[in-house]
Amino acid sequence: MEVTLNVNGSAHPLRLDARVTLLDALRDHLGLTGAKKGCDQGACGACTVLLDGRRVVACLTLAAQCEEREVTTIEALSEEGTPHPVQAAFARHDAFQCGYCTPGQIMSAVALLAEGRAGSEEEIREFMSGNLCRCGAYPNIRKAIRDVAEEG
Ligand code: FES
Ligand code: FES
Repeated sequence: MEVTLNVNGSAHPLRLDARVTLLDALRDHLGLTGAKKGCDQGACGACTVLLDGRRVVACLTLAAQCEEREVTTIEALSEEGTPHPVQAAFARHDAFQCGYCTPGQIMSAVALLAEGRAGSEEEIREFMSGNLCRCGAYPNIRKAIRDVAEEG
């Protein structure tokens, strides 16, 4: 089927099998490999992207469902080489080890901050609970998010 994906401000007409997920369309058809494939079952959050500004797990979202909607991936966050404040805070706080979960964590954190859900450690813990980190970088991830929330 013909699908036009609007990703990071650009329209991409694609011809895809109706079963192709947004994650595979991004990674395999558009070369946007920032969103990672962890579990491919909606359980880890490594593939988190924004769909019309709301976080979704791209491995459980069909590309065909995204027609006429705006997809934002980690590739769109930095501006002219300047990291997004959340990216900078993750670097500052060493909020990763292997880095595999990091793009998903950052996209989720960007949405969580926009949702106004970073009011406390507990709130961040709860609203980031869909993003798993096998390296256990959680304390520093929360510190990075708190930092950005406090900076406003
Ligand atoms: S790869 Fe999508 S939730 Fe794990
Ligand atoms: S930094 Fe390795 S899985 Fe999170």
